[in-house]
Amino acid sequence: MVVAGSRRVLVRQLPEVSKPLTAGAAVCVAIGAVLPIAFAVATGAAVAAVPVAVGGGLRSPAGQHLLNTVILVGVLLAAQQTLSPIQDAVTNILSRRVQMRIYRRSMVAALQPRTIAHLEDPELLDLVAGATLLSPGGPNGAVRNVLNQSRRYISGAASLLLVAHYRWWLAILLFGAELALLQRHRALYSEMVSFRARQLPGLRRSVYLRGLAMNPDAAKETRIFGLAGWVVERFRGEWLETMTRLWEQRRGSVLRLLAAAVPVFAILLLSVWLMGRDAIDGSISLGAMVAYASALFATMQLVMPGDDFAIEEGAAVVRKTVELEKIVASDARLRLPGDHSPPQAAPQRDIRVEGVRFRYPGRDDDVLHDLDLVIPAGRSLAIVGDNGAGKTTLVKLLARLYDPAQGRIVVDGVDLRDIDAAGWQARVAAVFQDFVRYPMTAAANVGFGAKRNGAHNDAARRADALELVEGLPHGWDTVLTREFDGGVDLSGGEWQRLALARALFAAAATGGGLLILDEPTAHLDARAEASFIGGFLDVTRGCTTIVISHRFSTVRRADRIVVLEGGRIIETGSHDELVALGGRYAEMFTLQAERFTDA
Ligand SMILES: Nc1ncnc2c1ncn2[C@@H]1O[C@H](COP(=O)(O)OP(=O)(O)O)[C@@H](O)[C@H]1O
Ligand SMILES: [Mg+2]
Repeated sequence: MVVAGSRRVLVRQLPEVSKPLTAGAAVCVAIGAVLPIAFAVATGAAVAAVPVAVGGGLRSPAGQHLLNTVILVGVLLAAQQTLSPIQDAVTNILSRRVQMRIYRRSMVAALQPRTIAHLEDPELLDLVAGATLLSPGGPNGAVRNVLNQSRRYISGAASLLLVAHYRWWLAILLFGAELALLQRHRALYSEMVSFRARQLPGLRRSVYLRGLAMNPDAAKETRIFGLAGWVVERFRGEWLETMTRLWEQRRGSVLRLLAAAVPVFAILLLSVWLMGRDAIDGSISLGAMVAYASALFATMQLVMPGDDFAIEEGAAVVRKTVELEKIVASDARLRLPGDHSPPQAAPQRDIRVEGVRFRYPGRDDDVLHDLDLVIPAGRSLAIVGDNGAGKTTLVKLLARLYDPAQGRIVVDGVDLRDIDAAGWQARVAAVFQDFVRYPMTAAANVGFGAKRNGAHNDAARRADALELVEGLPHGWDTVLTREFDGGVDLSGGEWQRLALARALFAAAATGGGLLILDEPTAHLDARAEASFIGGFLDVTRGCTTIVISHRFSTVRRADRIVVLEGGRIIETGSHDELVALGGRYAEMFTLQAERFTDA
Protein backbone atom coordinates (compact mmCIF):
# COMPACT_ATOMS: atom_id res chain seq x y z
CA MET A 1 0.00 0.00 0.00
CA VAL A 2 2.92 2.27 0.71
CA VAL A 3 3.98 2.25 -2.92
CA ALA A 4 0.47 3.21 -4.03
CA GLY A 5 1.01 6.24 -1.81
CA SER A 6 4.37 6.86 -3.45
CA ARG A 7 2.89 6.66 -6.92
CA ARG A 8 0.23 9.14 -5.91
CA VAL A 9 2.83 11.49 -4.41
CA LEU A 10 4.62 11.58 -7.75
CA VAL A 11 1.56 11.65 -10.02
CA ARG A 12 0.24 14.64 -8.07
CA GLN A 13 3.33 16.57 -9.18
CA LEU A 14 2.56 16.18 -12.88
CA PRO A 15 -0.35 18.59 -13.40
CA GLU A 16 1.48 21.10 -11.18
CA VAL A 17 4.17 21.24 -13.81
CA SER A 18 2.06 21.22 -16.96
CA LYS A 19 -1.51 20.18 -17.55
CA PRO A 20 -1.18 19.73 -21.36
CA LEU A 21 1.95 17.60 -20.99
CA THR A 22 0.26 15.51 -18.32
CA ALA A 23 -2.71 14.95 -20.61
CA GLY A 24 -0.30 14.04 -23.43
CA ALA A 25 1.50 11.58 -21.19
CA ALA A 26 -1.81 10.02 -20.13
CA VAL A 27 -2.84 9.52 -23.77
CA CYS A 28 0.55 7.96 -24.56
CA VAL A 29 0.23 5.64 -21.58
CA ALA A 30 -3.25 4.52 -22.64
CA ILE A 31 -2.35 3.90 -26.28
CA GLY A 32 0.94 2.34 -25.31
CA ALA A 33 -0.93 -0.05 -23.03
CA VAL A 34 -3.53 -1.14 -25.55
CA LEU A 35 -1.31 -1.56 -28.60
CA PRO A 36 0.55 -4.70 -27.40
CA ILE A 37 -2.77 -6.38 -26.54
CA ALA A 38 -4.17 -5.58 -29.97
CA PHE A 39 -0.93 -6.88 -31.41
CA ALA A 40 -1.25 -10.17 -29.51
CA VAL A 41 -4.87 -10.61 -30.60
CA ALA A 42 -4.06 -9.79 -34.24
CA THR A 43 -1.12 -12.19 -34.22
CA GLY A 44 -3.43 -14.90 -32.86
CA ALA A 45 -5.93 -14.16 -35.64
CA ALA A 46 -3.18 -14.35 -38.25
CA VAL A 47 -1.96 -17.69 -36.93
CA ALA A 48 -5.55 -18.97 -36.92
CA ALA A 49 -6.01 -17.90 -40.51
CA VAL A 50 -2.96 -19.77 -41.80
CA PRO A 51 -4.30 -23.40 -42.00
CA VAL A 52 -7.50 -22.38 -43.87
CA ALA A 53 -5.57 -20.14 -46.23
CA VAL A 54 -3.09 -22.90 -46.96
CA GLY A 55 -6.00 -25.04 -48.12
CA GLY A 56 -7.77 -22.37 -50.21
CA GLY A 57 -4.78 -20.49 -51.63
CA LEU A 58 -3.99 -16.79 -51.26
CA ARG A 59 -6.64 -15.73 -53.79
CA SER A 60 -9.45 -17.42 -51.84
CA PRO A 61 -11.49 -15.38 -49.33
CA ALA A 62 -9.59 -17.18 -46.55
CA GLY A 63 -6.34 -16.12 -48.21
CA GLN A 64 -7.54 -12.52 -48.42
CA HIS A 65 -8.48 -12.67 -44.74
CA LEU A 66 -4.99 -13.91 -43.82
CA LEU A 67 -3.45 -11.11 -45.87
CA ASN A 68 -5.60 -8.48 -44.12
CA THR A 69 -4.71 -9.80 -40.68
CA VAL A 70 -1.02 -9.81 -41.52
CA ILE A 71 -1.33 -6.19 -42.71
CA LEU A 72 -3.11 -5.33 -39.44
CA VAL A 73 -0.26 -6.93 -37.47
CA GLY A 74 2.20 -4.81 -39.47
CA VAL A 75 0.22 -1.61 -38.88
CA LEU A 76 0.02 -2.29 -35.14
CA LEU A 77 3.75 -2.95 -35.03
CA ALA A 78 4.46 0.29 -36.91
CA ALA A 79 2.14 2.20 -34.57
CA GLN A 80 4.08 0.91 -31.57
CA GLN A 81 7.34 1.98 -33.20
CA THR A 82 5.98 5.46 -33.93
CA LEU A 83 4.46 5.98 -30.52
CA SER A 84 7.57 5.01 -28.63
CA PRO A 85 9.74 8.07 -29.48
CA ILE A 86 6.78 10.43 -28.97
CA GLN A 87 6.11 8.92 -25.58
CA ASP A 88 9.81 9.14 -24.70
CA ALA A 89 9.88 12.82 -25.57
CA VAL A 90 6.75 13.70 -23.59
CA THR A 91 7.88 11.65 -20.60
CA ASN A 92 11.35 13.14 -20.67
CA ILE A 93 10.20 16.73 -20.67
CA LEU A 94 7.59 16.11 -18.03
CA SER A 95 9.86 14.19 -15.66
CA ARG A 96 12.70 16.67 -15.97
CA ARG A 97 10.38 19.52 -15.18
CA VAL A 98 9.05 17.72 -12.12
CA GLN A 99 12.61 17.20 -10.92
CA MET A 100 13.54 20.82 -11.53
CA ARG A 101 10.50 21.99 -9.61
CA ILE A 102 11.10 19.72 -6.63
CA TYR A 103 14.78 20.66 -6.39
CA ARG A 104 13.90 24.31 -6.73
CA ARG A 105 11.32 23.99 -3.96
CA SER A 106 13.87 22.49 -1.57
CA MET A 107 16.36 25.26 -2.42
CA VAL A 108 13.73 27.93 -1.81
CA ALA A 109 12.76 26.30 1.49
CA ALA A 110 16.39 26.17 2.68
CA LEU A 111 16.99 29.77 1.61
CA GLN A 112 13.74 31.20 2.91
CA PRO A 113 14.60 31.90 6.55
CA ARG A 114 16.68 35.07 6.69
CA THR A 115 18.53 33.75 9.73
CA ILE A 116 20.95 30.84 9.37
CA ALA A 117 20.65 28.88 12.61
CA HIS A 118 18.48 26.24 10.90
CA LEU A 119 21.37 25.33 8.60
CA GLU A 120 23.41 24.37 11.67
CA ASP A 121 20.68 22.14 13.08
CA PRO A 122 21.59 18.48 12.36
CA GLU A 123 17.96 17.35 12.17
CA LEU A 124 17.07 19.96 9.62
CA LEU A 125 20.25 19.21 7.72
CA ASP A 126 19.15 15.58 7.46
CA LEU A 127 15.94 16.80 5.91
CA VAL A 128 17.80 19.06 3.49
CA ALA A 129 20.08 16.18 2.55
CA GLY A 130 17.12 13.82 2.24
CA ALA A 131 15.57 16.20 -0.26
CA THR A 132 18.30 15.18 -2.71
CA LEU A 133 20.30 12.21 -1.39
CA LEU A 134 17.49 9.69 -1.12
CA SER A 135 17.15 9.33 -4.85
CA PRO A 136 20.48 9.17 -6.66
CA GLY A 137 18.69 9.40 -10.00
CA GLY A 138 16.43 12.20 -8.80
CA PRO A 139 12.62 12.34 -8.98
CA ASN A 140 13.12 12.51 -12.74
CA GLY A 141 13.69 8.76 -13.07
CA ALA A 142 10.89 8.05 -10.63
CA VAL A 143 8.34 9.98 -12.68
CA ARG A 144 9.39 8.11 -15.81
CA ASN A 145 8.97 4.85 -13.93
CA VAL A 146 5.52 5.83 -12.70
CA LEU A 147 4.40 6.42 -16.30
CA ASN A 148 5.98 3.18 -17.48
CA GLN A 149 4.39 1.34 -14.64
CA SER A 150 0.97 2.81 -15.38
CA ARG A 151 1.27 1.56 -18.93
CA ARG A 152 2.27 -1.87 -17.70
CA TYR A 153 -0.60 -1.92 -15.22
CA ILE A 154 -3.21 -1.10 -17.87
CA SER A 155 -1.68 -3.55 -20.27
CA GLY A 156 -1.47 -6.23 -17.58
CA ALA A 157 -5.10 -5.66 -16.57
CA ALA A 158 -6.29 -5.88 -20.18
CA SER A 159 -4.32 -9.09 -20.61
CA LEU A 160 -5.99 -10.43 -17.51
CA LEU A 161 -9.37 -9.76 -19.17
CA LEU A 162 -8.27 -11.83 -22.13
CA VAL A 163 -7.24 -14.65 -19.79
CA ALA A 164 -10.65 -14.31 -18.10
CA HIS A 165 -12.23 -14.79 -21.53
CA TYR A 166 -10.44 -18.14 -21.66
CA ARG A 167 -11.16 -19.30 -18.07
CA TRP A 168 -12.52 -16.71 -15.61
CA TRP A 169 -11.40 -18.60 -12.48
CA LEU A 170 -7.87 -18.82 -13.88
CA ALA A 171 -7.77 -15.05 -14.21
CA ILE A 172 -8.97 -14.57 -10.65
CA LEU A 173 -6.40 -17.03 -9.28
CA LEU A 174 -3.64 -15.40 -11.27
CA PHE A 175 -4.67 -11.91 -10.22
CA GLY A 176 -4.74 -12.88 -6.55
CA ALA A 177 -1.31 -14.46 -6.68
CA GLU A 178 0.16 -11.58 -8.64
CA LEU A 179 -1.33 -9.03 -6.28
CA ALA A 180 0.25 -10.80 -3.31
CA LEU A 181 3.61 -10.81 -5.05
CA LEU A 182 3.23 -7.14 -5.97
CA GLN A 183 2.58 -6.22 -2.33
CA ARG A 184 5.74 -8.07 -1.32
CA HIS A 185 7.78 -6.14 -3.88
CA ARG A 186 6.40 -2.86 -2.72
CA ALA A 187 6.86 -3.61 0.95
CA LEU A 188 10.47 -4.59 0.34
CA TYR A 189 11.36 -1.43 -1.57
CA SER A 190 9.54 0.89 0.73
CA GLU A 191 11.34 -0.74 3.70
CA MET A 192 14.65 -0.21 1.96
CA VAL A 193 14.02 3.44 1.26
CA SER A 194 12.67 4.29 4.71
CA PHE A 195 15.66 2.43 6.13
CA ARG A 196 17.94 4.67 4.13
CA ALA A 197 16.01 7.73 5.26
CA ARG A 198 16.84 6.74 8.86
CA GLN A 199 20.52 6.44 7.91
CA LEU A 200 20.79 9.99 6.58
CA PRO A 201 23.52 11.16 8.99
CA GLY A 202 25.71 8.26 7.82
CA LEU A 203 24.77 8.94 4.22
CA ARG A 204 25.73 12.60 4.64
CA ARG A 205 29.05 11.57 6.16
CA SER A 206 29.84 9.26 3.28
CA VAL A 207 28.97 11.96 0.73
CA TYR A 208 31.31 14.29 2.62
CA LEU A 209 34.10 11.73 2.65
CA ARG A 210 33.71 11.14 -1.07
CA GLY A 211 33.95 14.91 -1.53
CA LEU A 212 37.21 14.95 0.44
CA ALA A 213 38.73 12.63 -2.12
CA MET A 214 37.45 14.54 -5.15
CA ASN A 215 37.39 18.14 -4.01
CA PRO A 216 40.43 20.21 -5.09
CA ASP A 217 40.06 22.36 -1.94
CA ALA A 218 40.87 19.38 0.24
CA ALA A 219 43.49 17.97 -2.12
CA LYS A 220 46.40 19.76 -0.43
CA GLU A 221 45.66 18.49 3.05
CA THR A 222 44.67 14.96 2.10
CA ARG A 223 48.12 14.61 0.57
CA ILE A 224 50.27 16.49 3.07
CA PHE A 225 48.68 14.67 6.00
CA GLY A 226 48.58 11.34 4.19
CA LEU A 227 44.80 11.05 4.52
CA ALA A 228 44.14 9.00 1.37
CA GLY A 229 43.91 5.64 3.11
CA TRP A 230 41.99 7.07 6.03
CA VAL A 231 39.41 8.81 3.84
CA VAL A 232 38.79 5.73 1.68
CA GLU A 233 38.63 3.41 4.69
CA ARG A 234 36.19 5.65 6.54
CA PHE A 235 34.04 5.91 3.43
CA ARG A 236 34.03 2.15 3.06
CA GLY A 237 33.29 1.80 6.77
CA GLU A 238 30.30 4.13 6.65
CA TRP A 239 28.98 2.34 3.61
CA LEU A 240 29.54 -1.16 4.97
CA GLU A 241 27.90 -0.34 8.27
CA THR A 242 24.76 0.98 6.59
CA MET A 243 24.67 -1.83 4.06
CA THR A 244 25.23 -4.63 6.57
CA ARG A 245 22.25 -3.45 8.57
CA LEU A 246 20.22 -3.12 5.41
CA TRP A 247 21.08 -6.64 4.27
CA GLU A 248 20.24 -8.11 7.65
CA GLN A 249 16.87 -6.49 7.49
CA ARG A 250 16.32 -7.48 3.87
CA ARG A 251 17.05 -11.17 4.24
CA GLY A 252 13.61 -11.93 5.72
CA SER A 253 11.84 -9.75 3.18
CA VAL A 254 13.61 -11.42 0.26
CA LEU A 255 12.57 -14.87 1.47
CA ARG A 256 8.97 -13.72 1.76
CA LEU A 257 9.25 -12.30 -1.73
CA LEU A 258 10.45 -15.60 -3.15
CA ALA A 259 7.68 -17.45 -1.34
CA ALA A 260 5.11 -15.14 -2.90
CA ALA A 261 6.51 -15.80 -6.38
CA VAL A 262 5.90 -19.59 -6.17
CA PRO A 263 2.07 -19.52 -6.53
CA VAL A 264 2.33 -17.16 -9.53
CA PHE A 265 4.62 -19.54 -11.38
CA ALA A 266 2.49 -22.54 -10.42
CA ILE A 267 -0.62 -20.89 -11.86
CA LEU A 268 1.25 -19.90 -15.02
CA LEU A 269 2.39 -23.51 -15.54
CA LEU A 270 -1.13 -24.80 -14.91
CA SER A 271 -2.54 -22.31 -17.43
CA VAL A 272 -0.03 -23.23 -20.14
CA TRP A 273 -0.78 -26.89 -19.61
CA LEU A 274 -4.54 -26.24 -19.85
CA MET A 275 -4.17 -24.17 -23.01
CA GLY A 276 -1.93 -26.76 -24.65
CA ARG A 277 -4.38 -29.55 -23.85
CA ASP A 278 -7.34 -27.53 -25.15
CA ALA A 279 -5.48 -26.75 -28.38
CA ILE A 280 -4.54 -30.39 -28.89
CA ASP A 281 -8.06 -31.71 -28.36
CA GLY A 282 -9.38 -28.92 -30.60
CA SER A 283 -11.59 -27.11 -28.08
CA ILE A 284 -9.69 -23.89 -28.88
CA SER A 285 -8.00 -22.99 -32.14
CA LEU A 286 -4.28 -22.66 -32.57
CA GLY A 287 -4.68 -18.89 -33.03
CA ALA A 288 -6.71 -18.57 -29.84
CA MET A 289 -4.04 -20.49 -27.99
CA VAL A 290 -1.37 -18.08 -29.24
CA ALA A 291 -3.42 -15.04 -28.19
CA TYR A 292 -4.31 -16.50 -24.77
CA ALA A 293 -0.75 -17.60 -24.06
CA SER A 294 0.69 -14.20 -24.91
CA ALA A 295 -1.97 -12.56 -22.75
CA LEU A 296 -1.07 -14.97 -19.98
CA PHE A 297 2.55 -13.90 -19.96
CA ALA A 298 1.60 -10.26 -20.47
CA THR A 299 -0.17 -10.31 -17.09
CA MET A 300 3.30 -10.61 -15.58
CA GLN A 301 3.60 -6.91 -16.31
CA LEU A 302 1.62 -6.40 -13.12
CA VAL A 303 4.49 -7.74 -11.06
CA MET A 304 7.61 -6.54 -12.85
CA PRO A 305 9.52 -5.04 -9.94
CA GLY A 306 12.08 -2.85 -11.71
CA ASP A 307 10.20 0.45 -11.41
CA ASP A 308 9.16 0.33 -7.78
CA PHE A 309 12.51 1.05 -6.21
CA ALA A 310 13.12 4.29 -8.08
CA ILE A 311 9.49 5.28 -7.47
CA GLU A 312 9.98 4.81 -3.73
CA GLU A 313 13.19 6.83 -3.82
CA GLY A 314 11.73 9.63 -5.89
CA ALA A 315 8.63 9.83 -3.67
CA ALA A 316 10.89 9.95 -0.59
CA VAL A 317 12.61 13.01 -2.06
CA VAL A 318 9.27 14.69 -2.70
CA ARG A 319 8.10 13.87 0.83
CA LYS A 320 11.28 15.25 2.43
CA THR A 321 10.91 18.40 0.36
CA VAL A 322 7.32 18.88 1.51
CA GLU A 323 8.37 18.21 5.12
CA LEU A 324 11.16 20.77 4.82
CA GLU A 325 8.74 23.35 3.42
CA LYS A 326 6.31 22.68 6.28
CA ILE A 327 8.97 23.05 8.96
CA VAL A 328 10.30 26.24 7.44
CA ALA A 329 6.76 27.63 7.24
CA SER A 330 5.66 26.60 10.72
CA ASP A 331 8.70 26.47 12.99
CA ALA A 332 8.61 29.47 15.31
CA ARG A 333 12.42 29.59 15.25
CA LEU A 334 12.40 30.05 11.50
CA ARG A 335 9.45 32.34 11.17
CA LEU A 336 10.50 35.92 11.28
CA PRO A 337 7.69 38.09 12.62
CA GLY A 338 9.06 41.27 11.06
CA ASP A 339 9.21 39.75 7.61
CA HIS A 340 6.30 41.70 6.18
CA SER A 341 6.92 45.24 7.32
CA PRO A 342 8.17 47.76 4.71
CA PRO A 343 11.83 47.80 3.65
CA GLN A 344 14.29 49.54 5.86
CA ALA A 345 15.96 52.87 5.21
CA ALA A 346 19.64 53.32 6.04
CA PRO A 347 20.16 53.96 9.75
CA GLN A 348 19.95 57.71 10.43
CA ARG A 349 20.70 58.00 14.14
CA ASP A 350 22.29 54.90 15.57
CA ILE A 351 22.26 51.17 16.02
CA ARG A 352 22.07 50.15 19.67
CA VAL A 353 22.94 46.79 21.10
CA GLU A 354 21.03 46.53 24.37
CA GLY A 355 21.78 43.82 26.90
CA VAL A 356 22.34 41.23 24.19
CA ARG A 357 23.01 37.67 25.21
CA PHE A 358 23.58 34.97 22.61
CA ARG A 359 24.51 31.33 22.36
CA TYR A 360 24.81 29.11 19.30
CA PRO A 361 22.26 26.33 18.81
CA GLY A 362 23.55 23.13 20.36
CA ARG A 363 26.08 24.88 22.66
CA ASP A 364 25.69 25.23 26.38
CA ASP A 365 27.60 28.44 26.96
CA ASP A 366 26.88 32.03 25.97
CA VAL A 367 29.15 33.66 23.43
CA LEU A 368 27.93 37.21 24.17
CA HIS A 369 27.04 38.30 27.70
CA ASP A 370 24.74 41.28 28.31
CA LEU A 371 26.44 43.28 25.63
CA ASP A 372 25.71 47.01 25.36
CA LEU A 373 27.01 49.10 22.50
CA VAL A 374 26.00 52.23 20.61
CA ILE A 375 27.03 52.48 16.96
CA PRO A 376 26.41 56.04 15.71
CA ALA A 377 25.15 56.19 12.13
CA GLY A 378 27.56 57.41 9.48
CA ARG A 379 30.65 56.73 11.59
CA SER A 380 33.21 53.97 11.65
CA LEU A 381 33.66 51.53 14.50
CA ALA A 382 36.52 49.09 14.92
CA ILE A 383 36.22 45.93 17.00
CA VAL A 384 39.38 44.34 18.35
CA GLY A 385 39.80 41.32 20.55
CA ASP A 386 41.35 37.88 20.82
CA ASN A 387 40.27 34.91 18.76
CA GLY A 388 36.95 33.58 19.96
CA ALA A 389 36.05 36.81 21.75
CA GLY A 390 32.76 36.97 19.82
CA LYS A 391 33.57 39.66 17.24
CA THR A 392 32.22 37.75 14.24
CA THR A 393 29.21 36.63 16.26
CA LEU A 394 28.37 40.22 17.11
CA VAL A 395 28.40 41.35 13.48
CA LYS A 396 26.37 38.30 12.45
CA LEU A 397 23.73 39.42 14.95
CA LEU A 398 23.87 42.93 13.55
CA ALA A 399 23.26 41.48 10.08
CA ARG A 400 20.41 39.53 11.63
CA LEU A 401 21.77 36.17 10.64
CA TYR A 402 20.82 35.15 14.17
CA ASP A 403 18.46 36.67 16.72
CA PRO A 404 19.71 37.39 20.25
CA ALA A 405 18.49 35.05 22.98
CA GLN A 406 18.01 38.03 25.28
CA GLY A 407 18.16 41.78 24.89
CA ARG A 408 17.70 43.49 21.56
CA ILE A 409 19.31 45.31 18.71
CA VAL A 410 17.63 48.60 17.90
CA VAL A 411 17.98 50.59 14.68
CA ASP A 412 16.89 54.22 15.00
CA GLY A 413 14.68 53.19 17.90
CA VAL A 414 13.08 50.17 16.18
CA ASP A 415 13.79 46.61 17.32
CA LEU A 416 15.60 44.75 14.54
CA ARG A 417 13.10 41.92 15.02
CA ASP A 418 10.29 44.24 13.94
CA ILE A 419 12.11 45.29 10.80
CA ASP A 420 11.69 43.36 7.56
CA ALA A 421 14.64 40.97 7.64
CA ALA A 422 15.17 40.91 3.87
CA GLY A 423 14.95 44.69 3.71
CA TRP A 424 17.52 45.04 6.48
CA GLN A 425 19.88 42.50 4.99
CA ALA A 426 19.70 44.29 1.67
CA ARG A 427 21.04 47.31 3.55
CA VAL A 428 23.94 45.35 4.99
CA ALA A 429 27.05 44.76 2.92
CA ALA A 430 29.60 42.47 4.47
CA VAL A 431 32.85 40.71 3.84
CA PHE A 432 33.05 37.85 6.31
CA GLN A 433 36.23 35.99 7.15
CA ASP A 434 34.92 32.97 5.32
CA PHE A 435 33.56 34.89 2.33
CA VAL A 436 32.55 32.78 -0.65
CA ARG A 437 34.75 32.34 -3.70
CA TYR A 438 32.16 31.81 -6.40
CA PRO A 439 33.41 29.63 -9.25
CA MET A 440 32.01 32.15 -11.74
CA THR A 441 33.25 35.15 -13.68
CA ALA A 442 34.97 38.08 -11.98
CA ALA A 443 31.92 40.21 -12.87
CA ALA A 444 29.56 37.73 -11.18
CA ASN A 445 31.81 37.64 -8.12
CA VAL A 446 31.35 41.37 -7.72
CA GLY A 447 27.89 42.13 -9.05
CA PHE A 448 26.21 38.69 -9.36
CA GLY A 449 23.48 39.09 -11.95
CA ALA A 450 23.79 42.89 -12.20
CA LYS A 451 24.23 44.25 -15.72
CA ARG A 452 27.82 45.28 -16.18
CA ASN A 453 28.42 49.02 -16.08
CA GLY A 454 30.70 51.61 -14.47
CA ALA A 455 29.68 50.43 -11.00
CA HIS A 456 31.78 47.29 -11.37
CA ASN A 457 34.87 49.32 -12.17
CA ASP A 458 34.16 51.83 -9.39
CA ALA A 459 33.80 49.12 -6.77
CA ALA A 460 36.93 47.36 -8.00
CA ARG A 461 38.93 50.59 -8.01
CA ARG A 462 37.93 51.32 -4.41
CA ALA A 463 38.80 47.82 -3.33
CA ASP A 464 42.14 48.15 -5.09
CA ALA A 465 41.12 45.29 -7.37
CA LEU A 466 40.74 47.04 -10.73
CA GLU A 467 44.27 46.37 -11.92
CA LEU A 468 43.88 42.79 -10.87
CA VAL A 469 40.66 42.40 -12.90
CA GLU A 470 42.11 44.17 -15.94
CA GLY A 471 45.11 41.86 -15.81
CA LEU A 472 42.96 38.72 -16.05
CA PRO A 473 43.04 36.92 -19.43
CA HIS A 474 39.43 37.87 -20.23
CA GLY A 475 39.06 40.80 -17.85
CA TRP A 476 35.71 40.82 -16.07
CA ASP A 477 34.60 37.75 -18.05
CA THR A 478 37.37 35.54 -16.71
CA VAL A 479 36.02 32.54 -14.86
CA LEU A 480 37.61 32.37 -11.42
CA THR A 481 38.22 28.67 -10.95
CA ARG A 482 40.63 26.29 -12.57
CA GLU A 483 37.94 23.67 -12.63
CA PHE A 484 36.64 24.96 -15.96
CA ASP A 485 38.51 25.50 -19.20
CA GLY A 486 40.05 28.94 -19.50
CA GLY A 487 39.49 29.65 -15.80
CA VAL A 488 42.13 31.02 -13.44
CA ASP A 489 42.48 30.92 -9.67
CA LEU A 490 43.42 33.90 -7.50
CA SER A 491 45.62 34.17 -4.44
CA GLY A 492 44.08 34.68 -1.00
CA GLY A 493 44.80 38.43 -1.07
CA GLU A 494 43.38 38.79 -4.58
CA TRP A 495 40.22 36.99 -3.58
CA GLN A 496 39.90 39.23 -0.57
CA ARG A 497 40.12 42.37 -2.67
CA LEU A 498 37.45 40.99 -4.97
CA ALA A 499 35.23 40.22 -1.98
CA LEU A 500 35.73 43.80 -0.84
CA ALA A 501 34.73 45.03 -4.26
CA ARG A 502 31.59 42.90 -3.91
CA ALA A 503 30.66 44.55 -0.60
CA LEU A 504 31.37 48.03 -1.94
CA PHE A 505 29.35 47.29 -5.07
CA ALA A 506 26.40 46.19 -2.94
CA ALA A 507 26.75 49.20 -0.64
CA ALA A 508 26.78 51.53 -3.65
CA ALA A 509 23.76 49.80 -5.19
CA THR A 510 21.61 50.21 -2.04
CA GLY A 511 22.90 53.70 -1.31
CA GLY A 512 24.69 52.54 1.81
CA GLY A 513 23.51 51.23 5.13
CA LEU A 514 25.77 49.14 7.26
CA LEU A 515 29.13 48.01 5.91
CA ILE A 516 30.79 45.18 7.81
CA LEU A 517 34.35 44.08 7.18
CA ASP A 518 35.48 41.10 9.21
CA GLU A 519 39.27 41.01 9.05
CA PRO A 520 39.29 42.52 5.56
CA THR A 521 43.05 42.87 5.37
CA ALA A 522 44.02 39.52 6.85
CA HIS A 523 45.22 38.20 3.50
CA LEU A 524 46.75 41.48 2.32
CA ASP A 525 50.39 42.40 2.60
CA ALA A 526 51.38 45.66 4.28
CA ARG A 527 51.51 47.65 1.06
CA ALA A 528 48.16 46.37 -0.22
CA GLU A 529 46.66 47.05 3.18
CA ALA A 530 47.92 50.63 3.29
CA SER A 531 46.55 51.33 -0.17
CA PHE A 532 43.24 49.67 0.64
CA ILE A 533 42.66 51.41 3.96
CA GLY A 534 43.50 54.83 2.57
CA GLY A 535 41.00 54.48 -0.25
CA PHE A 536 38.51 52.68 1.89
CA LEU A 537 38.04 55.50 4.39
CA ASP A 538 37.34 57.94 1.57
CA VAL A 539 34.80 55.66 0.02
CA THR A 540 32.93 54.81 3.17
CA ARG A 541 32.81 58.30 4.64
CA GLY A 542 29.24 58.91 5.77
CA CYS A 543 28.51 55.20 5.82
CA THR A 544 28.04 53.24 9.03
CA THR A 545 31.07 50.99 9.00
CA ILE A 546 32.19 48.23 11.31
CA VAL A 547 35.62 46.81 10.80
CA ILE A 548 37.10 43.91 12.71
CA SER A 549 40.86 43.75 12.48
CA HIS A 550 44.00 42.69 14.23
CA ARG A 551 46.01 45.33 12.43
CA PHE A 552 46.31 48.54 14.33
CA SER A 553 47.21 50.46 11.20
CA THR A 554 43.61 49.71 10.17
CA VAL A 555 41.99 49.95 13.57
CA ARG A 556 43.51 53.28 14.65
CA ARG A 557 41.81 55.14 11.80
CA ALA A 558 38.31 54.26 12.99
CA ASP A 559 36.24 56.95 14.72
CA ARG A 560 35.71 54.67 17.65
CA ILE A 561 37.18 51.42 18.86
CA VAL A 562 35.75 48.77 21.18
CA VAL A 563 37.72 45.95 22.75
CA LEU A 564 35.80 42.72 23.10
CA GLU A 565 36.94 40.04 25.50
CA GLY A 566 35.10 36.85 26.35
CA GLY A 567 31.84 38.19 24.90
CA ARG A 568 32.01 41.47 26.87
CA ILE A 569 33.13 44.95 25.93
CA ILE A 570 35.97 45.93 28.21
CA GLU A 571 37.18 49.18 26.65
CA THR A 572 35.75 51.88 24.38
CA GLY A 573 37.27 55.03 22.93
CA SER A 574 39.38 56.50 20.16
CA HIS A 575 42.85 55.19 19.45
CA ASP A 576 44.53 57.95 21.38
CA GLU A 577 42.16 57.62 24.31
CA LEU A 578 42.66 53.89 24.53
CA VAL A 579 46.44 54.15 24.29
CA ALA A 580 46.38 56.77 27.01
CA LEU A 581 44.16 54.48 29.10
CA GLY A 582 47.03 52.01 29.24
CA GLY A 583 44.70 48.96 29.35
CA ARG A 584 44.20 45.92 27.14
CA TYR A 585 44.16 47.93 23.91
CA ALA A 586 47.36 49.73 24.77
CA GLU A 587 48.99 46.39 25.59
CA MET A 588 47.96 44.82 22.26
CA PHE A 589 49.01 47.93 20.36
CA THR A 590 52.44 48.06 21.98
CA LEU A 591 53.01 44.36 21.29
CA GLN A 592 52.32 44.79 17.60
CA ALA A 593 54.24 48.08 17.32
CA GLU A 594 57.29 46.38 18.90
CA ARG A 595 57.08 43.52 16.46
CA PHE A 596 57.14 45.95 13.54
CA THR A 597 60.00 48.05 14.94
CA ASP A 598 61.98 44.83 15.56
CA ALA A 599 61.50 43.84 11.98
N1 LIG B 1 28.28 28.52 14.11
C1 LIG B 1 28.78 28.34 15.35
N2 LIG B 1 28.26 27.35 16.12
C2 LIG B 1 28.73 27.17 17.37
N3 LIG B 1 29.70 27.90 17.94
C3 LIG B 1 30.25 28.89 17.22
C4 LIG B 1 29.82 29.15 15.87
N4 LIG B 1 30.54 30.19 15.40
C5 LIG B 1 31.38 30.57 16.40
N5 LIG B 1 31.20 29.79 17.49
C6 LIG B 1 31.89 29.93 18.76
O1 LIG B 1 31.60 31.22 19.31
C7 LIG B 1 32.72 31.80 19.90
C8 LIG B 1 32.99 33.17 19.31
O2 LIG B 1 33.31 33.02 17.95
P1 LIG B 1 33.54 34.23 16.97
O3 LIG B 1 32.44 35.20 17.14
O4 LIG B 1 33.77 33.69 15.63
O5 LIG B 1 34.89 34.83 17.55
P2 LIG B 1 35.89 35.89 16.90
O6 LIG B 1 35.32 36.36 15.62
O7 LIG B 1 36.00 36.97 17.93
O8 LIG B 1 37.18 35.19 16.74
C9 LIG B 1 33.88 30.83 19.72
O9 LIG B 1 34.02 30.09 20.92
C10 LIG B 1 33.40 29.92 18.62
O10 LIG B 1 33.90 28.63 18.79
MG1 LIG C 1 36.02 36.20 13.75
